Amino acid sequence: MKLKYLGHSCFLIETNGKKLIVDPFISANELAKDIDVDAIRVDYVLLTHGHQDHVLDAETIAKNSNAKIVSNFEISSWYEEKGIPGHGMNHGGSWNFDFGKLKYVNAIHSSVLPDGTYGGNPGGFVIESAGKRLYIAGDTALHMDMKLIPIVSGKLDAAILPIGDNFTMGPDEALLASDFIECDRVIGCHFDTFGYIVIKDKEAVIERFKKKGKNLSLPAIGDEIAL
Ligand code: NI
Ligand code: MN
Repeated sequence: MKLKYLGHSCFLIETNGKKLIVDPFISANELAKDIDVDAIRVDYVLLTHGHQDHVLDAETIAKNSNAKIVSNFEISSWYEEKGIPGHGMNHGGSWNFDFGKLKYVNAIHSSVLPDGTYGGNPGGFVIESAGKRLYIAGDTALHMDMKLIPIVSGKLDAAILPIGDNFTMGPDEALLASDFIECDRVIGCHFDTFGYIVIKDKEAVIERFKKKGKNLSLPAIGDEIAL
């Protein structure tokens, strides 16, 4: 499984010969202005929740790619009304896609679509593909249900956790989350994009994880990570 960071909470995932994009927020992200959204082609667009900073470019990318949108039922239905094929899920459910098994899991946050439509409850994903298991937490607070993830899904190879604070967990809670999910390899997201979520001293945060035996990456846009 290969990941590429496209800024904020957006990752391009290549696995089992398929391409997935998670939470595309590129065209309004100043930090990602070198990325050409119109050139992106994927098989699936995965959306954790309905907020603009996660769904902004979903429609463009899905239409350009003839891709399917996978999210909770409320969000996938909203896109289906726009003529984009969707696969709706809900919390605790899994489905075997051609790229692997995907589970929609709990998050503590809010979720409304850009036009004010109710976006259902926010979530995260566990992807099992090509012999690897990746947890994508989505926007979330630290919560006890994270402890269920290794129990239900098994040992994780890596986790993408929000770490920018204010709207989601900050570094201290993300570190606790890595204990809850029993995963030592953490990829941070949802940092630096806006003023409220800037991580000033990245080295200090990485060091804090290191002291607890954890590997934290705070990727730069364009960075590639192999699992
Ligand atoms: Ni959000
Ligand atoms: Mn967000």
